[in-house]
Amino acid sequence: QADVVPQAPEDPLFGLMAAFRRDTDPKKVDLGIGAYRDDNAKPWVLPVVKMADDRLRNDPNLNHEYLPIAGLADFTAASQKLILGGDSPAIKEKRVTSLQTISGTGAVHLGALFLAKFYKLNTKRTVYFSNPTWPNHFQIFSNVGLPNQTYPYFSKETRGLDFEGMINTLQNADEGSIIVLHACAHNPTGVDPTQEQWKKIAEVVRAKKHFPFFDTAYQGFASGDLARDGWAIRYFLEQDFEMCIAQSYAKNFGLYGERAGCFHFVTSPSPDAQSTVTRVASQLSILQRSEISNPPAYGARIASLVLNDPKLFAQWEEDLRTMSGRIIEMRKALRGKLEELGTPGTWNHITDQIGMFSFTGLSETQVMKLREDSHVYMTKNGRISMAGLNTHNIDYFAKAVDKAVRE
Ligand code: LMR
Repeated sequence: QADVVPQAPEDPLFGLMAAFRRDTDPKKVDLGIGAYRDDNAKPWVLPVVKMADDRLRNDPNLNHEYLPIAGLADFTAASQKLILGGDSPAIKEKRVTSLQTISGTGAVHLGALFLAKFYKLNTKRTVYFSNPTWPNHFQIFSNVGLPNQTYPYFSKETRGLDFEGMINTLQNADEGSIIVLHACAHNPTGVDPTQEQWKKIAEVVRAKKHFPFFDTAYQGFASGDLARDGWAIRYFLEQDFEMCIAQSYAKNFGLYGERAGCFHFVTSPSPDAQSTVTRVASQLSILQRSEISNPPAYGARIASLVLNDPKLFAQWEEDLRTMSGRIIEMRKALRGKLEELGTPGTWNHITDQIGMFSFTGLSETQVMKLREDSHVYMTKNGRISMAGLNTHNIDYFAKAVDKAVRE
């Protein structure tokens, strides 16, 4: 009987978005959900997406037939190249299988479901997330029945990486645990390991026979350079790990609502690799069919056009530089203004952190104060979406922070 169903809490992020929309104050500032905004605080359709969209709409052969279960083949093949590298031996040796998914969330879910079903020894594997992580990770992996733990990640003292804590926990975790790693532009902290630190992480993951699961939602968004933002995944590939990758095109194409994403399973080199991948692909196909039947077409068609056309691809790279460049400018401006105001504390972490978010270090009380007094909306953990700042509201925001910190 449904009357036993308890009330669930509202999703914090989408709840925040709704609260912002209800606020009628003209000064209100939205630093909540991670979605790019232009200098006028408006959603930005990437010029390259507009071009691809025009081409698609004028295509007399466009129809609304089903895609195959694994999605649009041109899209998944291009997605492999984008994240693994065009000359990746894993692709040449046919050690990868990829399925188009309902954006990054769908990719994480498909991977989680697959691991829950097939990645077993004597006991269920534990999944390790960074502390903190994207909150949906917990829900997605819990939904498929995998127990979870966290590894230390963010140091409150340095507002950087707690590398020692992270390594110790990975070293002490049960062998064969699943380790979820953010490939770049960590959400929510904006703190990434250095390349040297990634090498050490790979060493521990190898020594403990852990299973790496990469979540990549910000390739090209962190540094503006696609290869550089894919470095950690490519390094793990060079080390011949078997792994899962969940890839989202929500942010780097601005295709949020179109739900374009991809899931990749890569197996290690071995004489049986191709047969392993064929079997894995067959199981993933059944999971996908039973859950979504086949993925939605439109967003993937747009991304596929861009990924497979050198001219459009070059335009995309320019659009990525526009977005990441504006965010970097806002980081510099915010830090500069807080330092100018003499706001108590240090603010170098605003420019040290990268990607879409900054973990400001503001307390929950300060966050709530900013919401009540200044109509500034950010998540309770003090995360701000840097893209919500622009040349028109940055002064206002810096002053509001200054006031909240001093009270
Ligand atoms: C965010 O963290 O703001 C985004 O990834 C949006 C989401 O789906 O949570």
